[in-house]
Amino acid sequence: MKRVIAIYPGSFDPPTHGHLDLIARGSKIFDQLIVAILRNPEKGPLFTLPERRRMLEILTEEFKNVEVDTFDGLMVDYAAKVKAGAVLRGIRAISDYEYELQMALMNRKLRPDLETVFMMPAEQYSYLSSRLVREIAQLGGSVQGLVPELVEQRLREKLDPAIKLEHARESKPRGR
Ligand code: PNS
Repeated sequence: MKRVIAIYPGSFDPPTHGHLDLIARGSKIFDQLIVAILRNPEKGPLFTLPERRRMLEILTEEFKNVEVDTFDGLMVDYAAKVKAGAVLRGIRAISDYEYELQMALMNRKLRPDLETVFMMPAEQYSYLSSRLVREIAQLGGSVQGLVPELVEQRLREKLDPAIKLEHARESKPRGR
């Protein structure tokens, strides 16, 4: 029987409940789902690639058919490399549609045998985005309920200078 491998590409800076909701849905319909983080240093991400990868690995541990990987270059080339037949993308509101349609059709032009599958996250996440989470956290607002606790904690560590300083002290070798 044919096994369908799908990739779920994105920046995941940081992963949100919306991403995890989509991963849970995708893991039910695909035999294997690869969460593929784009290496995008030019975007100046808040979290480094290894940080995002580690968070996603921990957060997706419960899904046995989900793995996490990174890619650069064209998404369609990465999909071909891992033998994926489908790309999973989330559509939250009609405002997502135009950009997603353009990207899906362009990807189809580049690789006609790769199907884009759109899924809707649960409606309570329809207004949620990594960009807004970053902005709220950077301005000192609460992101509780928007991201998993692990991500909340990592955001605090990243943005609170006091916690940062404490970690730096802890990781310094003790005086001789
Ligand atoms: O989390 P994002 O920013 O919505 O993810 C966008 C992503 C990574 C899916 C998209 O930018 C992408 O696929 N980039 C890889 C480069 C590529 O293939 N570009 C052509 C798109 S038609």
